[in-house]
Amino acid sequence: MITDLAPMPNHVKISVTRSFLPPKAEFDKRLADIWASYHLTNNGPQVQELEGRLKDMLGAEHFFFMGNGTIALQIAIRALDLIGEVITTPFSYVASTTSILWERCVPVYADIDPATCCIDPARIEERITPRTSAILATHVYGLACDVEAIQAIADKHGLKVIYDGAHAFGSTYKGRSLMTFGDITTGSFHATKIFHTVEGGCIVAKDPEVARRVLLMRQFGHSYDDHFLAGVNGKNSEFHAAMGLCVLDHFPEIMADRAEQWLHYAGALSHLPACRVLVPDSRLKYNHSYFPLLFVDYATMARAQAALLVEDILPRRYFYPSLDQLPYLQDPAPCPVSRHIAESVLCLPLYHGLAVEDRDRVIRIIREAL
Ligand SMILES: Cc1ncc(COP(=O)(O)O)c(C=O)c1O
Repeated sequence: MITDLAPMPNHVKISVTRSFLPPKAEFDKRLADIWASYHLTNNGPQVQELEGRLKDMLGAEHFFFMGNGTIALQIAIRALDLIGEVITTPFSYVASTTSILWERCVPVYADIDPATCCIDPARIEERITPRTSAILATHVYGLACDVEAIQAIADKHGLKVIYDGAHAFGSTYKGRSLMTFGDITTGSFHATKIFHTVEGGCIVAKDPEVARRVLLMRQFGHSYDDHFLAGVNGKNSEFHAAMGLCVLDHFPEIMADRAEQWLHYAGALSHLPACRVLVPDSRLKYNHSYFPLLFVDYATMARAQAALLVEDILPRRYFYPSLDQLPYLQDPAPCPVSRHIAESVLCLPLYHGLAVEDRDRVIRIIREAL
């Protein structure tokens, strides 16, 4: 049975996330502008405004609004001309691996650091071969990869670096947006994300020539009648940009609410012996985009998960399975740290407006289950 395609059971009362919706009047106002302009897509005023505001906010050299976070990853791999092997994390959403495969490269897994759930730089170097062209790492849950160590390895071996920043929007490391490291950072603005455009994503690029290729690849490889390369359709519409602009106006309050919720959970759950809370590095201003709870083992996680489900609360196993266990890969090296965490982690409900009583219920149920 393909369970992932099944809709969410309709008895679920509290899910792991719920999309932020701005006041409808604010979206209506932007819709009226779109209606008046007849400009629905192809780099219209809403897309340009969103790109400008996000570029400034992130301090990005080059910023592109994209159709989604997966096409952003695929174009990133193409724009950097990657071939052969790409060293990547086994602990991420499946799109970080499938985009490598889709671009006809080979994912090679380096295990993760249990303190951050991000790729462990100490494991990267041992995976490098003459066929390695890049490192593709995910800032898991909005926590930071060890960007300095990864860049040092890349410089030493002449490798490109792509960060999958699908969770990283709003996090800053040493005062700099986590979306601006590496040769390229990609983002996802899917409806479940802390900042969203319903469907959407982005590419942040450092080098102007890479940026030029991204721009062309996003629009079929041509500019009017001049054709430069074989591109694809990676752009997004005025409607999606309009939603993004409305959400962006509320981003400070979204961040503040998330932080308050995250601290509430952490205060109530971090001292329990059967589970562990991931504590952000002190140099990271954290976006609190997820609340993962790492249980000691699978059985304990399953007990907590079952107890929550009985009360119509749906946590999610972000991320399960560990990607080195994907059934369609050919003999990837096993990553034991990632496998253990993937088997024993649950992300608890955390979203704008989640009531304090609901969080208290989640906390009570987990405590009782343990
Ligand atoms: C880590 C990570 N990478 C990539 C993606 C793909 O993004 P999108 O759904 O916008 O294609 C997601 C989305 O869930 C994600 O969580």
